[in-house]
Amino acid sequence: MNVLGIESSCDETAAAVVADGTSVLSSVVESQIDLHAVYGGVVPEIASRSHLEAIIPVVDQALERAFHVKGAIHSREAWEQIDAIAVTNGPGLSGSLLIGTLAARTLAWLHDKPLIAVNHVLAHPYVNWLQDPKPAFPVLALIVSGGHTQLVLFEDHFQYRLLGQTRDDAVGEAFDKVAKMLGLPYPGGPKVATIAEDGDPRKYTFPKARMQNPYDFSFSGLKTAVLRALQAEIGEGHEYPSHKLAERLSSVQKADVAASFQHVAIKTLVDAVEEAMNEYSPQSFIIGGGVAASDELRRQLDDRLSFSITYPALNLCTDNAVMIATLGYYQSHARRGVLTPHTLVIEPSLAM
Ligand code: KG4
Ligand code: ZN
Repeated sequence: MNVLGIESSCDETAAAVVADGTSVLSSVVESQIDLHAVYGGVVPEIASRSHLEAIIPVVDQALERAFHVKGAIHSREAWEQIDAIAVTNGPGLSGSLLIGTLAARTLAWLHDKPLIAVNHVLAHPYVNWLQDPKPAFPVLALIVSGGHTQLVLFEDHFQYRLLGQTRDDAVGEAFDKVAKMLGLPYPGGPKVATIAEDGDPRKYTFPKARMQNPYDFSFSGLKTAVLRALQAEIGEGHEYPSHKLAERLSSVQKADVAASFQHVAIKTLVDAVEEAMNEYSPQSFIIGGGVAASDELRRQLDDRLSFSITYPALNLCTDNAVMIATLGYYQSHARRGVLTPHTLVIEPSLAM
């Protein structure tokens, strides 16, 4: 069964073809990062306009690479090999979701294909089901991205318990905000990680939030602690604006703050994972989402867990359509979220 996946929830336009939820026939990701970087974050109006420009070429390329036919989007031969179209219908930016879903609805209607509505957050960890062997249930999953931080226990496909989640900022969002204070361009997570390599993670002692539920997270206090440390470092008070900090900081100071922040942010995640591993003794542990690309996360997990973990490829951690097609395959089998071009709608605030 070949599923065409389409993703446009934020600032990546992506399409992919996955066979039997197992092998990736193609994956195309068109990133808009350069367009948004000048504004220091994603601008929704710019995002939807560039999805509109990119969506048809991206789907065309995904079909072309999967089936080796030129002008694939117009080719009957290519469409005959597609069994279903899976598309992200939430959560995400409304204007962005509308472009991907409208493209998927139109293509499903034109080519008479089943249409599967996929939850972007639930899809992130599904790239782990491309591995051989597949994760055995029960599966503990850490989903860490720019918008979400969740610890989920799967008893089976579609049978899961949300053990905990962030009460304020997502961990990726905290990386991006700290990056901004350090004068690093959007998206800051990977850049904080790079400069942290030269820093001392023990130079600053940043606080870890204490939560009533040990599987919940909070990162806004940590972000404020970083701001206060930077203001103190240059001898200024709490009113000193964060956007003026970077120009007065040395590269050593920036590296030390990045390393100390990263150490605590990642430790917060790994503490919760370790506790959940002890309490629930799952058969497998998996990670997904942009922050799952973090070397520090992988390093701390390997140090702390006596569990062999197979990590997803880095390009499958950040937003992509392979994850949408893969979860779409499982949904199709379970008859979940299988809709028609007339019944599929966007759900910008879709929860897990
Ligand atoms: O999953 P994703 O591509 O988009 C969302 O669904 O949010 O995640 C993007 C997030 C951004 O906040 C980015 O800064 C963060 O993932 N990120 C990282 C790293 N690579 C990406 N954070 C820390 N370390 C990294 N290496
Ligand atoms: Zn994502």
